[in-house]
Amino acid sequence: MSKIISFNKKIKNFKKKIIVPGDKSLSIRWVLFASLGNGISKARNLLMSEDVMATINTIKKFGIKVKIKKNDIKVYGKGFNGYKYSKRLVIDAENSGTLGRLILGILVDTPYPIKIIGDKSLSKRDFRRVTDPLAHLGAKFKLKNNKNLPLTIFGSKNLNPIKYNEVRGSAQCKSSVIFGAMKANGTSIIKAKKSRNHTELLCKYLRLPIYVKTKKKYDEIVVKKVNRIKPLNYNIPSDISSSAFFIVLTALSENSKLTIKNVNINPSRTGIITILKKMGVKIILKNKKIYKGELKSDILVFGSKKLKAINCPAKLNSGAIDEFLVIFLVAAKAKGISYFKDLSELNQKESPRLNWAKKILNEIGIKTIVTNDSIRIFGNPNLNVKKKIVIKNYLKDHRVFMTSVIAALSFGGKWKIHDKDSIKTSFPNFLKIVNKIKKND
Ligand code: S3P
Repeated sequence: MSKIISFNKKIKNFKKKIIVPGDKSLSIRWVLFASLGNGISKARNLLMSEDVMATINTIKKFGIKVKIKKNDIKVYGKGFNGYKYSKRLVIDAENSGTLGRLILGILVDTPYPIKIIGDKSLSKRDFRRVTDPLAHLGAKFKLKNNKNLPLTIFGSKNLNPIKYNEVRGSAQCKSSVIFGAMKANGTSIIKAKKSRNHTELLCKYLRLPIYVKTKKKYDEIVVKKVNRIKPLNYNIPSDISSSAFFIVLTALSENSKLTIKNVNINPSRTGIITILKKMGVKIILKNKKIYKGELKSDILVFGSKKLKAINCPAKLNSGAIDEFLVIFLVAAKAKGISYFKDLSELNQKESPRLNWAKKILNEIGIKTIVTNDSIRIFGNPNLNVKKKIVIKNYLKDHRVFMTSVIAALSFGGKWKIHDKDSIKTSFPNFLKIVNKIKKND
């Protein structure tokens, strides 16, 4: 089957209801917490994507039994210190930064060295950001180029508590250190720039001795030694990062309307909603509910006639970090020059995304000024693309693929987008939902 997909036509107006798959951050965290629980944990609507399967394959390597039936799953946890370690273990985190980084926190006390490998994209990413603080706890590491995968972790039985200042706003770093600190003898204190807080909310729901003091610009997280974790049944809500592609597709399609059911709208993840509302998009959150500490709702989006440029406040960055590529498409059609700053973290993702934003926007005829941490986008409300565009060699970054598809459907042109299998990491049925929206029933 061809790995290249072609688009030659803009999408027509639509009025649809869709359901997108389970949240990736929550799915990966649930699998990890369940593997450490004392007994059987069950989840429904777990995201069945490659990143989550890589997490499941990882816990299996530590002797944890898993049973899967469609999107329902049972994990037979063996307790907080119940992993079975063996010599010469190799963990393949594949494309998943979240798995690769969080698992290191759990493995800080491994009795044998464990090697962590990843795919081409993950092997280019920075792992010192987690191994440095975990080394303060007492684990040791050997990394390729002193920074990358493959790496080997050498655990320690005597782990010291730490004081750690997380300055990037990285939930992966914060969560990895929370897991590590749960095994230390004493009280660790993490001062973390704001980022998604799913790990902390799960800890709270599980009544673990992890306490969060919320300050204006950062959170202070106190982590004490954990002895036992209860099993955790969870019904995973849909992923706002996957919803983002369809929120933007709708916003860019005048007279269209879309409902996305049951989406996780944790306030640390809703930057896209705040940003698009500021740009003139009508979005309504309906049926809000709290589920096990997480907020969820249906999202209603309406196509917009007039979009406004934005000077995006940097405080919104962490809550929209995975959505910027697709948000930039809205800026491309807005009246005026949009400016997004303090975004060096975008180049630390599955591909250097600021560079990819520039490439995609320039291809569709939009002028940009890009630095290593900012982008200015010169919007054109009459944007209409006719030319041929090929998107390839983007390190199979799922979000580059999906953003390109949304650009093709929104602005027109003759597109050939390579490596469609890239969606399997986070959103395997993305193209099925595109087809459902395209079909006029
Ligand atoms: C994630 C955190 C973010 C995000 C990633 C998922 C998580 O990464 O980009 O897709 O689940 O913790 P950083 O922690 O590197 O910002």
